[in-house]
Amino acid sequence: MSETPATLSLPQMQPDVLEFLKSRRSNLAKLMTEPGPDAGQIQDMLNIAARVPDHRKLTPWRFILFQGKAREKFGPHLASAFTKANPNLPVDRALFEAARFTRAPLVIAIISSPKDCPRGTPKWEQELSAGAACFNLCLAAQSYGFAAQWLTEWYAYNADIDKALGLSGEERVAGYIYIGSVKTAPIERARPDMDTIIHHWTG
Ligand SMILES: Cc1cc2nc3c(=O)[nH]c(=O)nc-3n(C[C@H](O)[C@H](O)[C@H](O)COP(=O)(O)O)c2cc1C
Repeated sequence: MSETPATLSLPQMQPDVLEFLKSRRSNLAKLMTEPGPDAGQIQDMLNIAARVPDHRKLTPWRFILFQGKAREKFGPHLASAFTKANPNLPVDRALFEAARFTRAPLVIAIISSPKDCPRGTPKWEQELSAGAACFNLCLAAQSYGFAAQWLTEWYAYNADIDKALGLSGEERVAGYIYIGSVKTAPIERARPDMDTIIHHWTG
């Protein structure tokens, strides 16, 4: 027997959330240090990441976590894929690439995993949902007081890395979300001129 769905709150004013959203910024992965979130916080962040609009409830995304030694263990995959794609670059560059995931205490790869939907949800919408999951994860991490950055770099677009991650079918990396702590506050970056991107349809 299925459970009765919980009744949630009516929409309400959330001044703290608005203030947070107005000033939120990403932090550079290369500036991140320990500590990262604990197990309970990570679970909570993943629950939030999965709480995104998802047309026809297809769950078109999944998460791969890199923590502790696993970050270094993935290094040889990064180094060999990089060397294969850039055979003329020096070896020390491959060593640099191997250390990518060690920049932050936690890296979460969000995998766009679109499903064949007999009822017709387009793949595009499923990929948009994966993007929403990426950003919700950033918001969750930042709401916990951690630094977060959504990166793709070259290894979101490399077939050897896809294979090492165990991606199948139409799966691809939507983003690597780096999460950690930072000691330096970010400065604001240039934002769009809103007048150039807002139009009121008048017919
Ligand atoms: C899909 C996606 C991929 C990104 N990949 C990179 C990347 O590879 N390297 C990078 O420096 N920034 C990348 N960014 C940008 C950063 O995540 C971040 O948005 C930017 O540094 C500042 O954004 P903020 O407004 O959250 O502070 C990417 C953003 C998106 C949406």
